[in-house]
Amino acid sequence: MNAPLPSTIVPPMLVMDHVTVDFDGFKAINDLSLTLESGSMTVVIGPNGAGKSTMCDSIIGRVRPTSGRVLFHGQEIQREPEHRIVSRGICRKFQTPGVLTGLSTIDNLVIAATADRRWWKSFTNAGQDEARARAETVIEQIGLRDRAEALAGNLSHGEKQWLEIGMVVATDAELLLLDEPTAGMGAVESTQTAGLIKTLIGRHAVLVIDHDIDFVAQLNGHVVVLHQGQLLREGTLEDIRNDEEIAAIYLGRAK
Ligand SMILES: Nc1ncnc2c1ncn2[C@@H]1O[C@H](COP(=O)(O)OP(=O)(O)O)[C@@H](O)[C@H]1O
Ligand SMILES: [Mg+2]
Repeated sequence: MNAPLPSTIVPPMLVMDHVTVDFDGFKAINDLSLTLESGSMTVVIGPNGAGKSTMCDSIIGRVRPTSGRVLFHGQEIQREPEHRIVSRGICRKFQTPGVLTGLSTIDNLVIAATADRRWWKSFTNAGQDEARARAETVIEQIGLRDRAEALAGNLSHGEKQWLEIGMVVATDAELLLLDEPTAGMGAVESTQTAGLIKTLIGRHAVLVIDHDIDFVAQLNGHVVVLHQGQLLREGTLEDIRNDEEIAAIYLGRAK
């Protein structure tokens, strides 16, 4: 006799199911399948042009998969507009800093917190108080307390990057997509960024794209290697480092 099916099967947080993104005959993503669990950390590595940013774009609804499905908590989202996907609880940080330079650091965070998916609340006083409280928490988390009143435009490059991560965190999205959060940073700032990102997991699931192996090692997450739009391997960084094919294609070149 077959075992009875459990009455509730909880689907994974995010599933990419055989996703292909075809740009006029060029497959930037090619039959990619990937599962992300709530509260987890996944690090996507791969050479330039591997399709890492396009993968993020296809999750957040900026590009449409030509085929395949993207499921968030079991629901298909691959045909939804970006704002709808954001309202479900997925938020993306872009490769380049996009802070509001004419506003203070704390106000940037308040605005991001106000853009929370529980948007209707943001028009009430309680919503405003909540957004400010959230901004105050996040500014501690990103280490910019003493820069709270500085204009965002006057922050250093690294501080701007942290503010941008903070703005994503302030939305309180369940899944945070961070595309090259250490772009333009030196080793010390990168290490601080890894420490910051590690504090996010649990409350959030985080997908980080980066190609700096030292930074990836510090994150200590589940590593996914993309190559020519395909998932070449996944596992711990140790597994990946010990893989000769990967070493030849990617790690060897990165050294
Ligand atoms: N909108 C687009 N139209 C055509 N080709 C694109 C588009 N976006 C990205 N590509 C191509 O898809 C490939 C993957 O790009 P991308 O996802 O940005 O790679 P990565 O982030 O890994 O460096 C690259 O060859 C890039 O030129
Ligand atoms: Mg990219």
